[in-house]
This record gives sequence, structure tokens and C-alpha cells, in this order.
Amino acid sequence: MSQTPSATPAVAAPAVDAAIPALSVRGLRKTYDNRVQALKGVSLDVAQGDFFALLGPNGAGKSTLIGIVSSLVNLSEGSVSIFGTDLVRERDAAMRLIGLVPQELNFNMFEKPLDILVNYAGFYGVPRAQAIERAEVELRRAQLWDKAQMMSRTLSGGMKRRLMIARAMMTRPRLLILDEPTAGVDIEIRRGMWQTLREINAAGTTIILTTHYLEEAEHLCRNLAIIDRGAIVASGPMKALLARLDVEGFLLDIDGPLPATLPVIEGATLVASDDHTLDVEMPRAMDLNRVFAALGEAGIRVRSMRTKSNRLEELFVRMTGENAQDSTVQPSPEPVA
Ligand SMILES: Nc1ncnc2c1ncn2[C@@H]1O[C@H](COP(=O)(O)OP(=O)(O)OP(=O)(O)O)[C@@H](O)[C@H]1O
Ligand SMILES: [Mg+2]
Repeated sequence: MSQTPSATPAVAAPAVDAAIPALSVRGLRKTYDNRVQALKGVSLDVAQGDFFALLGPNGAGKSTLIGIVSSLVNLSEGSVSIFGTDLVRERDAAMRLIGLVPQELNFNMFEKPLDILVNYAGFYGVPRAQAIERAEVELRRAQLWDKAQMMSRTLSGGMKRRLMIARAMMTRPRLLILDEPTAGVDIEIRRGMWQTLREINAAGTTIILTTHYLEEAEHLCRNLAIIDRGAIVASGPMKALLARLDVEGFLLDIDGPLPATLPVIEGATLVASDDHTLDVEMPRAMDLNRVFAALGEAGIRVRSMRTKSNRLEELFVRMTGENAQDSTVQPSPEPVA
């Protein structure tokens, strides 16, 4: 674990005024040694108890932001406070409030899950007896109790990810930060992890996560910020952001193969995703019957229809697209890693 805590014993964190944000970031800038400006003035508040998503394309600056907040990366300019505790001036106190699940697996594969958790807690000053008790709670919650004594190397990818979450919870963080926790995890395991995260959040822990799975943010998070090339391009409640979308998407299953030329329907966009699936995008206000009528005239018979669950994707493309036209945002001087 690269996160270096102070050797102070884990004491109960002091009560915090509920009005103080769990995370408050102001004017945050980061320029790496190679002159890449990864963050260009980010300001952001995450309320206590929130489940917050940080979305953005590769190289947007998500991990840099998380790295700074969890004290793994030094900031160039700006301020960060965690439950009102300034990260630079009171680093150790701020760090004790945070649990981090980093983007890469970073535990010892030759240790057993139980030992990983107990040793981690010990590192943060949790007494051993208490650590053992907590480890059982966390391993059970992660559905890993039956694997507690196995070599971690033998766990599946999804189990390893869950172990990372269980480990972060060992210090009873007030703010849990996860950098793409479900990357490369199949949908069933992902759903299980969502359930675990929801439980953790419901029990009072504020959660911030970055994800490339837009569906994940939509399922889990109440608020989100979209970051692109080092700047926040949109933020607010998930519902309010989604309401800004006036486009709806449908997938139509077609009886028989689609003709080479699709009918033109004014206002709607039709694309054949394969020879019997039609991808339709149209303004919310538009009557779907117009689409069906035009398809019928062209001899295309619709067998069934699904709503495309890509609203967040659409939102994302739009926000980052709008931002791309904003002359105040310069493209990264270096290609994205
Ligand atoms: N240690 C570093 N040194 C130099 N440049 C870096 C370093 N870490 C990140 N960068 C650069 O900073 C920018 C932001 O990277 P960052 O890892 O924060 O993006 P990200 O949003 O987490 O991307 P991803 O979704 O791919 O994980 C990129 O241009 C990246 O190349
Ligand atoms: Mg990243």
C-alpha cells in the first residue's frame, strides 16, 4: 500500500457539523513534472452522505483528482478539505477520514485475505483484537468469509476487487473513494458490488467513485461531476442532468433483414446496428408512431422494441462536446497516456 499513514492510533473521529461538505475542492490545479496540466482549476463539493460519481474519458484527470484527495499526489495550486479538515495543513487528520480503493490491485497476492485486512488495520493503528472482529464483518459483507484463509492470488478478479473494498473499510472511513472499482468485472459481480456499496453508503459513509460504466453511475449515484481535460464541464444531481437530455434512443428488433437503404424520417436518426436491429434516436417530444408508420411504408416490420439505456452516455458526449467548443479549455499539450 503506497498510502503512508501516520502511526497514530485510530481514535474515534470527532463529530462534524452536517453542513460541512465531506469533500470540498477549490481552484485545484495540477501540473506534472512533464508539464502536463492534468487539472486546470477544479472546484467541487460533495455533501456528507452523498453517493457521488466522477465521470470522464481516459486522461480527463479523475485519478489525478483522487490521487490529490487521498494525498498520493501533490497539488500544484488550490485547496482540498475533508470534512472541514485542510488536506495540506492537517494531512494526517484528513487522511484518517478517508478510505481509498485505487485503480490498480495493490495488495500482496501471497497473503491471505484475513491477514491483509488485519495487517492493514494495524498499520492504521486499529488494535489487533478489534481488527480481527472488523475483518470478519468486512469479509462477510464482501462475501469472502469462506476465502479468508486462502492465498489471495487464487481469488477471482471480482473477489480481488471486493477484497480491496473490504480492506478500505477496515479503518471505518467517513469518505470512501473508489477509482474504477468495477473495471473488468462482469455484470453479475458488478451488481453484487453495487449492493455492497449501497449498504456502505446507507450506513452513513460518503462515497465518491470514478467509473467508465455510465450505467453504474446512473444506478448508484445521486450527484455527479463530469470532468474533461482537467476541467469540470457539468455537475449536479443525476436526475437534473438527465432531464437536460431531450433525446431518446430505442433499439428495434426487425422481422427479417433490413433493406440496404433505410427510410429518412425527419428529426430522427436511424442506424442499422446489425441486419435485424435498428437504432433510433429522436427528440423526446416526437411521436414514436411516425417512426413506426415510416418503417411500415418501407416494408420494415418491428418485432419488439427496447429503450436504450444510454442516456448518461448521451449526456456525457454532449457535455464534453460542448466543452470542446469552449475556447477557454485548451487541449492537453501531451497525448493522453
Ligand atoms: N504521474 C504522471 N506524470 C505525468 N503525467 C501524468 C501522470 N499521471 C497522469 N498524468 C497525465 O495527466 C492526465 C490525467 O491523467 P489521469 O490519470 O488523472 O486521468 P484519468 O481521468 O484517471 O484517466 P483514466 O480514465 O484513463 O484512468 C493525462 O494526460 C495523463 O497522461
Ligand atoms: Mg484513472
